[in-house]
This record gives sequence, structure tokens and C-alpha cells, in this order.
Amino acid sequence: MELLIKTFHGLEDVLVDELKVLGADNIKPLKRAVSCEGDLTLLYKANLQLRTALRILVPIATFKASNEDELYKKIYDIDWSKYLTDRKTFAIDAVAFSDMFTHSKYLGLKTKDAIVDQFREKTGKRPSVNVESPDLLINIHVSHDKFTVSLDSSGESLHRRGYRDVGHKAPLNEVLAAGMILLSGWTKDMPLIDPMCGTGTILMEAAMIACCIPPGHKRKEFSFMRWVDYDDLLWTQVKEAAEKRINYPKTNIVGGDNNAEAVDMAKTSTLDARLNRQIRILRASIQEHVPTATSGMVITNPPYGERMKKDDIDNFYKTIGSLMKKNFGNYTVWIITSNNDALKHIGLKPSKKITLFNGPLECKFVKYEMFDGKYLDFKTSKAKKELKENIDKDE
Ligand SMILES: C[S@@+](CC[C@H](N)C(=O)[O-])C[C@H]1O[C@@H](n2cnc3c(N)ncnc32)[C@H](O)[C@@H]1O
Repeated sequence: MELLIKTFHGLEDVLVDELKVLGADNIKPLKRAVSCEGDLTLLYKANLQLRTALRILVPIATFKASNEDELYKKIYDIDWSKYLTDRKTFAIDAVAFSDMFTHSKYLGLKTKDAIVDQFREKTGKRPSVNVESPDLLINIHVSHDKFTVSLDSSGESLHRRGYRDVGHKAPLNEVLAAGMILLSGWTKDMPLIDPMCGTGTILMEAAMIACCIPPGHKRKEFSFMRWVDYDDLLWTQVKEAAEKRINYPKTNIVGGDNNAEAVDMAKTSTLDARLNRQIRILRASIQEHVPTATSGMVITNPPYGERMKKDDIDNFYKTIGSLMKKNFGNYTVWIITSNNDALKHIGLKPSKKITLFNGPLECKFVKYEMFDGKYLDFKTSKAKKELKENIDKDE
């Protein structure tokens, strides 16, 4: 079966890597999605284990239609008895990128009519629509005149890991945080610091990676569990196999924030997820945050300054840059921000920039390599290290 896995812009390549680990076939990166092939086991594993997936669709039909009547006929031609019974409920999620079809609600309505009419004519009974909690969530995507009809196997977006119930002003999306960590090249043996951690999303995602905790570990429901072909035994096997790999290694993951409420929320999440031994959270301003390890990685999401005066946010970024130089020599620092102007005041030379989106905000995820002592010494020791690694690889 084909799987179409949705993600955020910029995370397609890390999602490809995750799918390779799961053993998917024919993996192809697309725009904000990756397609691949696999069986039911892969579908279950993908929902449970992919850190950078937002939802997993299973396409069941593709066709062209140039008006609503044609759409109705093509939907009617699909054998819906393979996916629904008259006792099940369904809902339709329609997305239109088309000059011909501009009203996604109307597309949904036409699709619903075709499905209901097919059942009525065959059995005299019909499945009902349930928008809140359907047994089958059908996704209709149209680009110009090309339709893809898919079954949504996830339901609620997969970023809802279940470790955070309460809201905070500006939490990062969990999928984005996991993607940033995977893009950064962080490994569990490296010290990791987020000195402006807010509710601790980056720390939580990192600790879950370190402990091999599947992102879907705490989720009770995935849409595929209500499908007619749901295989409970297979799901149990997939879940148990993934849970067997969970372990709690010693890590050095530290967060800080100067907001008491955010620190409380972050601590509650770490306790609820039993990750309070992996993650240490301090109520401290970044100015006070001095790392214990001499090298490691900083990944942080500072305020973007939407509610601040320009001078204040520019100065704050200048302070961040100075603090990184002063206290985080030998660290690799990654910062995500939508404020390009403020970023210019950081006064550090970026070695990499990746475009990501935090909700609607276009952001840059920027890497800075800090170094203790003279830059030339740093470059020389880095070149020596790389040379040694290449020699080791050749041997
Ligand atoms: C964009 S939010 C981070 C959100 C976080 N990534 C999350 O997922 O919840 C920025 C955070 O920086 C914190 N902050 C602002 N100024 C700070 C400072 N001087 N020192 C430490 N934290 C600060 C704020 O309290 C806020 O929680």
C-alpha cells in the first residue's frame, strides 16, 4: 500500500531518514510530505514511531474531474464497502488548490452524497456523518483537476504526543522541535541546553529520542483503530516491540527559563513522562545560565519580539550572541527565529541556515559553531579532527 506522510516544510529529508529506519520502500520526498510503500505493519509503526510526521494518509484513488458532477461519479465508482459499513460513521476533510474547485466544503458535500447514495442503493441503509469522532476520516485533495482520495490513518495530528495538556503562550510544535533536533545532528551522549526552554518542548523531544520512547507512546487513539481491517494483534505486537526498546540512559539535557509559569509547566511534563531524571530544568535567565559541561549543543527558540520594541529585541539578540561567546565556547548553537532583523544583531557567523515554519511564521534555523580561544586554532583543530575521521573511515 502507498503511504502519504505529511510533515512541515524543511523536514522532508529527516522524515525520509526516519522512514528508511522503519524499512519503508520506494521513499520519495515531496513538498511538505513524503510518499512510500509498505504494509499494515509499516502503517502502524509509522503512526507510532515517526517523530516528524503530522499525519499519515493512505491514498485509495486518484482521478481527474473538471466539475462537481464528474467528481460525484468518480467518488461513486469507488467501492466504499471495502472501507465502511452502514453502521460506521465517517467525515470528510477536503483541501482544494484549484481554480475549478474553490469551495472545499462543497467538495466535501458532493463526496458525502456519492458515498451515502452508493450505500443506500446497495443496502437501503447508509452510514452517518460524524464530524467530531468519525470511524473513517476521508481526505480529499484537489490540485487543479487532479483528485487524490485518501483515508486518514492518524486522526488527531501526530504532534499531539499527549505529554502536554495545558497551553503556554508560544510552545513549539512537537513535530517541529523533533525535526530541529534531528536536523541539528545532536546525539544522546552530547550535553544539550535550551536556555529559553519555555514549556520544554525541545528538551522533551530530545529526551524521548535518547530514551527511544516512541512519540505516540502516550496516545490512546489513532484513526486506523476504527477501520474495518484493524488488526489488534498486529498493533499490540508493533507497540510491544517498540516499547521493548525504551531505556533510560544517563543524559545531560538542561533547560532554563526566567518565567516561573513556563518552568512549572516544563517540570510537570518531565514528571508526567517520567523524564525528570533525564531533563533538568532551572528557573534562570539566560544571563545566569552557565553550562557545567565544556562542550555540547544549544538548541533554543528565543522570543521573536512581536510584543517588544525593535531596539529591545535587537539588544536582546546582541546579548544572546555575547553570552554564547562568553559562556558556551566549544558549543554548537542552533537558534530558530522569525526575526531576521534581530538575528543580524547576534554578532556570530552562521555556518548553516535552514528555512522552517513555526505555524505561519517563516523562520530561520541557524547554526553557529562557537570556539574557545583563537578562531585559527579552532579551524585547525576542526580540520585535524575531520582529517582523522576520514582516515579512520578509510581504514
Ligand atoms: C518562544 S518561547 C520558547 C517556547 C518553547 N520553545 C516551548 O516550546 O514552550 C521563549 C521563551 O524565552 C523565555 N525568555 C525570555 N527572556 C528570557 C531570558 N532573558 N532568560 C531566559 N528565558 C527567557 C520566555 O519566558 C519564553 O518562555
